[in-house]
Amino acid sequence: MHKALAIVAFAGLTLPLILAAQSSGNVALPQDKGPAKIDISAYPAAQQQGYKVFVDKCAKCHTIARPINTTMTKDEWERYVKRMMHKPNSGISDTQGKTIFDFLAYDQATRKDKNPSAFSKSLSDDEIEKLKAAQH
Ligand code: HEC
Repeated sequence: MHKALAIVAFAGLTLPLILAAQSSGNVALPQDKGPAKIDISAYPAAQQQGYKVFVDKCAKCHTIARPINTTMTKDEWERYVKRMMHKPNSGISDTQGKTIFDFLAYDQATRKDKNPSAFSKSLSDDEIEKLKAAQH
């Protein structure tokens, strides 16, 4: 196939998939409005690598600001990463999920636990449902 045609065909096939994936996370949560970046310059090399996987994988359906500005316990992060992995089309493998969890646990202990009031607590399913209802 001609190269330009191939690109058009590819975009035509994938765009609806991307839009469908995004719409599932499109309820706006308070933590989406915070900073969309973490200063990882003082983090160990493994966590700097983990940050890349996190930014790549966790911004597919909602802003990366959402996890960056949410504070949870380590156990809750473990459950939450699994919950995100199990969403349709999450595109996150077990290995990537583990890498992301390790990063989030380190970031929680290093950055968030020292200043918990600067971050949003995770919302309950009920609270998320109420926000969805209010926005649609
Ligand atoms: C396939 C789409 C998708 C991907 C990929 C995804 N999320 Fe989510 N995320 C959602 C949806 C949808 C919600 C809204 C709550 C729900 O339906 O579970 C959400 C909500 C959240 C919340 C809000 C929690 C709360 O209760 O306030 C956090 C934090 C979060 N995601 C973190 C992550 C992290 C970390 C990753 C990467 C491991 C990730 N998400 C990847 C779809 C996704």
